[in-house]
Amino acid sequence: MSDSVTLVVLAAGKGTRMKSPRPKVLHRLAGRSMIHHVLALAAELAPRRAVVVLAPDMAEVAAEVERAPQPATIVFQEPQLGTGHALLAARDQLPAAGEVLVVYGDTPLLTSATLRSLLEARRAAAAAVAVLGMRPPDPGGYGRLAFAGGELAAIVEERHADDELKRDGLCNAGIMAFDAARLRTLLDALEIRTPKNEYYLTDVVAHAHARGWPCVAIEMPWLEALGVNSQAQLAEAEAVLQHRLRQAAMTAGVTLIGPETVFLAADAQLEADVEIGPYVVFGPGVRVARGARILPFCHLEGVTIGPGAQIGPFARFRPHSEIGAGAKVGNFVEVKNAVLEAGAKANHLSYIGDARIGAKANIGAGTIVCNYDGFAKHRTDIGAGAFIGSNTALVAPVTIGAGAVVGAGSTISRDVPPGSLSIARGRQTDIPDGAARLRARRAPKS
Ligand code: UD1
Ligand code: CA
Repeated sequence: MSDSVTLVVLAAGKGTRMKSPRPKVLHRLAGRSMIHHVLALAAELAPRRAVVVLAPDMAEVAAEVERAPQPATIVFQEPQLGTGHALLAARDQLPAAGEVLVVYGDTPLLTSATLRSLLEARRAAAAAVAVLGMRPPDPGGYGRLAFAGGELAAIVEERHADDELKRDGLCNAGIMAFDAARLRTLLDALEIRTPKNEYYLTDVVAHAHARGWPCVAIEMPWLEALGVNSQAQLAEAEAVLQHRLRQAAMTAGVTLIGPETVFLAADAQLEADVEIGPYVVFGPGVRVARGARILPFCHLEGVTIGPGAQIGPFARFRPHSEIGAGAKVGNFVEVKNAVLEAGAKANHLSYIGDARIGAKANIGAGTIVCNYDGFAKHRTDIGAGAFIGSNTALVAPVTIGAGAVVGAGSTISRDVPPGSLSIARGRQTDIPDGAARLRARRAPKS
């Protein structure tokens, strides 16, 4: 529906109020940078193209834009002379016909449904400009929508607004849709404004009105326009997103026991009939298949959990991991870059890194894969049905053959053949009467 739309994301502002050396739009919400949230919105709209306006010193942000799954063209704005100037910086990328939709890089709670309503409102009125208005609890700092004879006539920045407009006016959310053919004329009409010496994008409304070109506004839920300007607002936006993600998961048939304690990631893929206990935290890249149970206090990142698998409590998953159907990973087990095939078990106190654990293999309590020798990482391969006794150290690179049994307390530094019983530990010595003789020797003389 939106192949006529060119989406422009304005993100050249400095974001100094975050008090962080990290550029504002690289801050993460639900495991995803703000700029990726906005570009993901773009994907939902399927625009003809997306353009991101950055300052030239934002190389890190440019790299993040290039990493996004959605293609976007980057243009640089230098110096940063306001929102109107930012859209002018993208002038060469704007189409001669069709529609232009402008959003901000720091408004991550926007939904595609709201953007669609804005586009539809513009089309229905054949308007030159359509604007999203809102009534936030604290309107301080926002521009206000001014109407004349029922028509949107101007957006007045707060510092230029009179008391009545400041008190009663709808606030400008900052998101605007334009008829591309008329936008060029409107941009050319912008003039620099004192005292901030900026070109206000919002001035296009007055210019359109002066030409008799209709402008329209629709009201949106203010929370969607929440701008992230400070760490406190970042946390507020996180809370809103988490609430949405939890609701969406439950609607899709996921059981959340204590949803307010579960922190999801924006890209989590959870099938129906997954159960997630309290205090589970997701990083990016997690997929959980139906029937899997995640017990309390787990941390998951970059892992696929197979159908019917059981995870936790207190298990940790790091990227590039895969847990097969019906497999079990129990308390205080860390899995990194490892595959546990169907029905494999690592139930207690283990580190499994750079490894494959074959189907139905059993990893005893306290087994450690020694994948790092201080210089490089090495792989461990454990065959199907193998049994690794408790407190075994597997010094990688090493292969344990299918069906082999490794005795508890072994330090395995050579491959174990399939079907072998291998034990690699100091032999036990038993001295008859030794205990009594020891006590006699060591007991204090009375
Ligand atoms: C703007 C609107 C205001 C609206 C508010 C909503 C104008 C003149 N005012 O004000 O009516 O109520 O947003 O949040 O548009 N940016 C650039 N280059 C620049 C300046 C800004 O790319 O030179 C980007 C920023 O990175 C940001 C967005 O534009 O993503 C908005 O800029 P900001 O300075 O926050 O605008 P406001 O003054 O808050
Ligand atoms: Ca702002």
